[in-house]
Amino acid sequence: MQQINVPFFSLQKQTEKLTQKMVDSFNYILKTQQFIGGPLVQEFEKKLARFLGNNAHVISCNSGTDGLWLALKALDVQPKSIVLTTPFSFIASSSEILALEAYPVMIDIEPDTFNISPALIQAWLEEHATMQKGHAIHTATGMPVAGMVIVDLFGQCADYQAIKNIAQTWNLWIIEDACQAIGAHTNSQQAGTFGDIGVLSFYPTKNLGAFGDAGCCVTNNQELAMRLTKLKNHGRASHYEYEEFGINSRLDTIQASVLSIKLDELDSYNQRRREIAAFYNQALANVPFLQLPQEQVGHHVYHQYCVILKDKQERAAFMHYLTTHGVGSNIYYPKALTQIAFLNTRLDLVNVCPVAEHASQAIVALPIWPELEQHELDYVVDVIKKFQSTLLVQPAQPTVAAHAA
Ligand SMILES: Cc1ncc(COP(=O)(O)O)c(C=O)c1O
Repeated sequence: MQQINVPFFSLQKQTEKLTQKMVDSFNYILKTQQFIGGPLVQEFEKKLARFLGNNAHVISCNSGTDGLWLALKALDVQPKSIVLTTPFSFIASSSEILALEAYPVMIDIEPDTFNISPALIQAWLEEHATMQKGHAIHTATGMPVAGMVIVDLFGQCADYQAIKNIAQTWNLWIIEDACQAIGAHTNSQQAGTFGDIGVLSFYPTKNLGAFGDAGCCVTNNQELAMRLTKLKNHGRASHYEYEEFGINSRLDTIQASVLSIKLDELDSYNQRRREIAAFYNQALANVPFLQLPQEQVGHHVYHQYCVILKDKQERAAFMHYLTTHGVGSNIYYPKALTQIAFLNTRLDLVNVCPVAEHASQAIVALPIWPELEQHELDYVVDVIKKFQSTLLVQPAQPTVAAHAA
């Protein structure tokens, strides 16, 4: 087997294919001199709304992180209230709760999908909350339990059938963090449209990625759409009429044009990700030291393909071995959010999450990006199959910048 390099992630081929369309579009923007807002941004918002269906309004903004802040603000999350969320995610799904001075309470995940467990949400509410005058109240502290930030991790929708039933019983809103899941769907409903507000990220490595930071909120509620539009533009109702505190989170025209061009390709990119996942599933099925990811809810779009090392002690050696054989890999996420001190300042609200904590120690993400070629995938599988689990443990070096998922 001759050694080749298979990067963990690359945009080079994708960008090369689209260069001419991008250049034409940038030239148009240079001519029109409209760098923020304007028809190209509106066109992208409408195009994405059509893609998402379900009467979606798309409110573009500067990043998924801003989208989460805007969504929480639009739903009037109050200081000293509780928001239930997952411990296994990129930090923004919890840190933005804290940004509004509310408390994230982590509910553990399902071991097979890595998404939040509806049964454990239900169990936490039954043990720790009561309904008072139609609102859920945390019994021990008297703080309101306001809502839930649910993440569709690695490209697979969470179980919204169960989660929506819980939300209804306990009168909780849902923010769907679909930052990793654009194009995933369940029963013909697109990721991003399950919550009161959905949030998408267009960070460059996402399934639909811009050439910089970009994101959006999604809602089918007209009032929330108007509030979000105001909040992302300094709380303005009109040019110099400011109605409330807001931020500057407007999408650049250049990013909107990139996203419009790439949105036309998204279904084929996602289809290719699914083909690669199917190949790994079949080719790695009998590798005894790996547990493979499961597609359990709807149509998964494999933003990441993450395997679990059955013996977590071998992860460092496994990743080191992949690196020395030219195969990129990464860890999402090396810590559960329960292990990040500043997110967990109220010790009485800390909820132990053993499944997420175990996953953070045993998980490895393999290369999965649409332009990977079959000979590269064959090589990755060959290399993995030859791993001898008796190698000396050495510290693994992630192969791309940490903020990739
Ligand atoms: C689950 C999740 N939530 C939120 C974000 C934040 O998005 P952004 O990087 O666009 O701010 C990301 C992406 O990095 C993410 O993966």
